[in-house]
Amino acid sequence: MRADGRSGDGGRDPLLAAETLRQVFDASPSAMVLVAADGVLRLANAQAGRLFGYAPAELIGRSVESLVPQRFRAQHPAHRDGYFADPVVRAMGEGRDLFGLRQDGSEVPIEIGLEPIRTPDGLFVLAAILDISARKRSEETLRSSLREKETLLREIHHRVKNNMQVVSSLLSLQTANVDDERYRALFEECQTRVRTMALIHEKLYSAGSLAALDAAEYLRDLVKMLARSYLPAESGVRVDLQLQPLDLDIQVAIPVGLIVHELVTNALKHAFRGRDGGTLRIALAQRAGAGLRLEVVDDGAGLPAGFDAGRARGLGFRMVQNLVRQLDGALQVHTGRGTRFVVDFEPAPLDAVAAPPARLGRS
Ligand SMILES: Nc1ncnc2c1ncn2[C@@H]1O[C@H](COP(=O)(O)OP(=O)(O)OP(=O)(O)O)[C@@H](O)[C@H]1O
Ligand SMILES: [Mg+2]
Repeated sequence: MRADGRSGDGGRDPLLAAETLRQVFDASPSAMVLVAADGVLRLANAQAGRLFGYAPAELIGRSVESLVPQRFRAQHPAHRDGYFADPVVRAMGEGRDLFGLRQDGSEVPIEIGLEPIRTPDGLFVLAAILDISARKRSEETLRSSLREKETLLREIHHRVKNNMQVVSSLLSLQTANVDDERYRALFEECQTRVRTMALIHEKLYSAGSLAALDAAEYLRDLVKMLARSYLPAESGVRVDLQLQPLDLDIQVAIPVGLIVHELVTNALKHAFRGRDGGTLRIALAQRAGAGLRLEVVDDGAGLPAGFDAGRARGLGFRMVQNLVRQLDGALQVHTGRGTRFVVDFEPAPLDAVAAPPARLGRS
């Protein structure tokens, strides 16, 4: 050995000696096999032996297909030929779950990286194989814990809805004892406000996703419920819904639902009073390049002369203004022959961090 660490025989590095390379090959933490174009294993390291349950020497000369579970075996030669026709460094079977077959017949989930090796004796492929059983096990644990949480969340939405239904029934029982027409109307309106929120929880536990609900379906059911409560059958009022299917999360759906509740009950109570029918239009749409636009439009009496929405004393308008603020939105009120309310708002993307819960009072 010379002082520069190289051996004297023509400058060859002793680290490149076959025996040393063999030790390096065997010390690799991933299993490695060198496969010829005909599918025969020409080299296998110690880890490959451990992974498949053979002595490494037993693997040499076997066909790689003997390490593939029976149900995937028939397609394997075609995959192998495809690789030899276009040999590049890549992962094998991307997007598919891969399994190795052990000598004892058991299967092991694996991940395989393929690397073409060009030699004077021809093209080979080096397959580096990782045992991913531990990862699969922890994935399964996570998945089942997620399923459990989903069931729990569904159950909670269900209970919240049931509790709200109880509140609504209590209000209904109280209403029966109220003689004064004005107070009775107040109780009735509180009842439909509670039902507006209960409906959101009902939609959430019965939908596919627990995080978002279809605004079109929700608002359709909500308006139907309001029409049943506030619109006499012979009123002649036509309700026109123009609702784009849009997913809203609960933090947005609650203020939107309550705004629609206030504006629609107002229109049904005030706009068409003493009139021979009319049209109420409720629209929700995505605006090009902007956020969402909610519109509640009636062709009824119009707001009272000199009405200032900013100074309105009714609970309804105050709630609408608070809820629009919660949505970081903008409210426009147009009145004349009929009334048109426009709420523009831009909900955060559905996977954003949850906002604080809706507040109804003054903030
Ligand atoms: N679409 C409408 N058409 C005509 N008048 C309306 C309309 N919406 C509201 N108003 C008028 O504005 C007033 C204020 O509405 P607001 O919702 O704040 O109170 P309210 O409906 O009277 O009571 P509540 O607090 O129960 O909602 C109403 O009393 C009504 O005179
Ligand atoms: Mg009102």
